[in-house]
Amino acid sequence: MQESPVPSLIDLGKRYWLLVYKPRELVLDHGKGARVWDTEKRDYIDFGAGIAVNALGHHDPDLLAALTEQAGKLWHSSNVFYTEPPLHLAQELVEVSGFAERVFLCNSGAEANEAAIKLVRKWAAAQRRTPDRRVIITFRGSFHGRTLATVTATAQSKYQEGYEPLPGGFRYLDFNDADALKHAFAAGDIAAVMLEPVQGEGGVQPVAPGFLKRVRELCDAYDALLVLDEIQCGMGRTGTLFAHMQDDVKPDIVTLAKALGCGFPIGAMLAGPKVAEIMQFGVHGTTFGGNPMAAAVARVALRKLASAEVLQNVRHQSAMLREALASLGKELDLFSDVRGRGLMLGAVLSEKYRGKAGEVLDFAASHGLLVLQAGPNVLRFVPPLNITDEEMADGLTRLRAALNAFVAQ
Ligand SMILES: Cc1ncc(COP(=O)(O)O)c(C=O)c1O
Repeated sequence: MQESPVPSLIDLGKRYWLLVYKPRELVLDHGKGARVWDTEKRDYIDFGAGIAVNALGHHDPDLLAALTEQAGKLWHSSNVFYTEPPLHLAQELVEVSGFAERVFLCNSGAEANEAAIKLVRKWAAAQRRTPDRRVIITFRGSFHGRTLATVTATAQSKYQEGYEPLPGGFRYLDFNDADALKHAFAAGDIAAVMLEPVQGEGGVQPVAPGFLKRVRELCDAYDALLVLDEIQCGMGRTGTLFAHMQDDVKPDIVTLAKALGCGFPIGAMLAGPKVAEIMQFGVHGTTFGGNPMAAAVARVALRKLASAEVLQNVRHQSAMLREALASLGKELDLFSDVRGRGLMLGAVLSEKYRGKAGEVLDFAASHGLLVLQAGPNVLRFVPPLNITDEEMADGLTRLRAALNAFVAQ
């Protein structure tokens, strides 16, 4: 009998995974710092960091030590018993936040936002206002997750099509349009405004100067909550531990995930004084949230990402990357804009190259560089926050070669 050929790893993915992903045709095997290797032993500089997750790069010795120590003690207890790591993690998150009083731990960004949406609704219900105020305003270009509620909060129809009927109670406005927001509040049914201080998936679009402050003022004037989704832009990525710290506002709710576990899945919702005790026993929960292994890793991640050393490195490397992107864009007539904050930068492809971000990523990978896109027109750069000068320089050399090859084709 003839033996069937051994399928390649990629063939397994093509055969057995749900078709919702289209990974690049390489299989990553291991990493160190901002460098990863595939199963063919090719190395890459990682400017994507697992979609802004591996904020301390790969194989960080302190994260590894925290995980292995906890893995040797206790893996899981659920929330019917206490374990030590999530207790300390909650305390530390509250202490560094400057606004939060309580924390809900979960496993992903979508879950953190789902908890935030539910908390807004519970708060609104507890207000017993007439008329009822339940609407949550979100902004075009946002991305808040893939559950039914968070995909509805995500004001982009491409993520929603075919999932109707969607939950009600969301209204969409143009990002950074303070007049539209003021007008929307006049309807009298707004419970909260939810936004990313730097929109990630929507094209690496930061809030305009002064916009967040204006949102806070309007929320205060109309007694509504301010919910900030810092899942992608938080945890030091913009050069301060939380992105909103640069806008001088205090939110009511902040959601975190991604870099909170630096690669170990964990999410968190931080609740300020207005809402910290709204949710009482039994109204929300999760089996895995606050898992001791995830929390042990997150405690170390938080300590390191909040350090002056890492935050200073973000600002330093951001200046290098931004300058290199601006000069490469000019030289090759490739970008119409370079925007973002800290190590969350987007290079917008000029008119001539519109829609070709995916193609640029192919050239980057074939030149040993992993980069992301944010939609079809924006290259997204979210490298590890502790990337070294040498890794950055190597990545930029590869980027230059890739972009030259792309424009020369
Ligand atoms: C700003 C933002 N919010 C929420 C999410 C959803 O997070 P997750 O994929 O962990 O559910 C993402 C993921 O990209 C995000 O960037």
